[in-house]
Amino acid sequence: MAKVLNRKTILVTGGAGFIGSNFIRHELESYDDVVIVNLDKLTYAGNLENLKDIEKKYGLASLNLKPKTQDLRPDLRYFFVKGDICDRNLADSLLSGKYFKDKEVGQGTHDARLMTPDSIVNFAAESHVDRSILDAVPFIDTNIKGTQVLLEAARIHWQDLGSGTRDMVPNVFLHISTDEVYGSLGKTGEFTETSPLLPNSPYSASKAAADLLCRSYYKAYNLPIILTRSSNNYGPYQFPEKLIPLMIKNALERKELPVYGEGLNVRDWLYVEDNCRAIDLVLRKGNIGEIYNIGGENEIENIKVVKLICKILGEKAAGDSRLDELIKFINDPRGKAHDFRYALDCSKIKKDLGWKPVSKFEEGLRETIDWYLSNRNWVKKVVTGEYQEYYKKIYT
Ligand code: NAD
Ligand code: DAU
Repeated sequence: MAKVLNRKTILVTGGAGFIGSNFIRHELESYDDVVIVNLDKLTYAGNLENLKDIEKKYGLASLNLKPKTQDLRPDLRYFFVKGDICDRNLADSLLSGKYFKDKEVGQGTHDARLMTPDSIVNFAAESHVDRSILDAVPFIDTNIKGTQVLLEAARIHWQDLGSGTRDMVPNVFLHISTDEVYGSLGKTGEFTETSPLLPNSPYSASKAAADLLCRSYYKAYNLPIILTRSSNNYGPYQFPEKLIPLMIKNALERKELPVYGEGLNVRDWLYVEDNCRAIDLVLRKGNIGEIYNIGGENEIENIKVVKLICKILGEKAAGDSRLDELIKFINDPRGKAHDFRYALDCSKIKKDLGWKPVSKFEEGLRETIDWYLSNRNWVKKVVTGEYQEYYKKIYT
């Protein structure tokens, strides 16, 4: 039986990370009938700083405050829950609505039913390839076991609701996956959604395992699953361990710019806002049981990315036209696990849902650099002692 609600309540996991926080902002700013419950463990990669404006505009400072019913405004549409996706009790409590009833939030304008998620968008993951090579354990725990916990909780709480066709299914479990599950390409070719899964790092192996679990829950239980697999995202709020923000940060600090190997590996860069639009479209209109590739149509070698960052920063802020002298080619810490090239055939999402990426790489990179220049305090705040330890392990 379909629930009749005039609001859409989405459980976003990993919403305090890079793509998740951009997605939450996108949803709340685009629709006034969306309620977001953000479940995040706040690992080193998750920062409430990423959502400070959102918390202020749409959220309670903290659910622990037990707000009075009369304080609950209809524009209160963002709720943060600190927790682990591996915690089955918490997942059950959120999906049954018990969590909000117990917190005494679900009253008045905020009927607890309205805060019981009808969809899940699962971003939560350990997401950095280099870290997975240092220690695979957290990747197995969060990316595989955590996904299975969410799938199982959804299966139990949504069991009466699915009937197969999109119009009849109020619930969607949208799992966010990656092009890395397909493995590596040579200089030519593109992956389609039916390409074999050939992951090469513990990170991508854990993501591929989660994808297969999702598939099995769709086949075995008719759980309304959809998957997206996107290429490399870039944009505001990306943690400075990934190539683009790391190079911006180091260049601004006049530190070495460490390029793995000869810098000839190719990535297809997708502006995060383009990805958020695609995820939103898939959530609302995607076909149940399907996988959608999402690429940026911006393939470029790493060394060219780094040189472009140096050029733009030189023009904009650093007042230094020789930033590229900071480039240092280092032994590749990924070894054979370093995928040479990714490229996605995105004809399915274009044809079925009418999506296409709009950001050109240099434009998006300029916007990203502007954001990092205006948010230097954000970088200072998110980089902790743990980051310094990690940096030493990889780069010295
Ligand atoms: P991120 O590392 O920036 O953020 C991950 C978030 O998940 C953090 O907020 C972290 O605190 C949270 N988290 C980690 N373990 C958790 C747990 N056990 N329970 C609850 N929360 C937990 O990652 P991102 O770059 O935003 O990537 C988001 C998703 O998109 C991931 O699933 C990743 O595999 C996928 N993806 C990323 C890219 C990319 O280029 N960044 C591309 C394709 C797919
Ligand atoms: O393709 C999608 C994937 O993109 C996501 O699934 C991952 O979560 C995300 O982290 C990203 O993975 P990559 O490994 O491609 O991204 P990263 O920014 O870490 O590296 C991009 C390229 O730059 C890669 O070829 C390695 C190289 N590199 C990276 C760093 C951090 C360097 O040369 N030097 C560096 O210091």
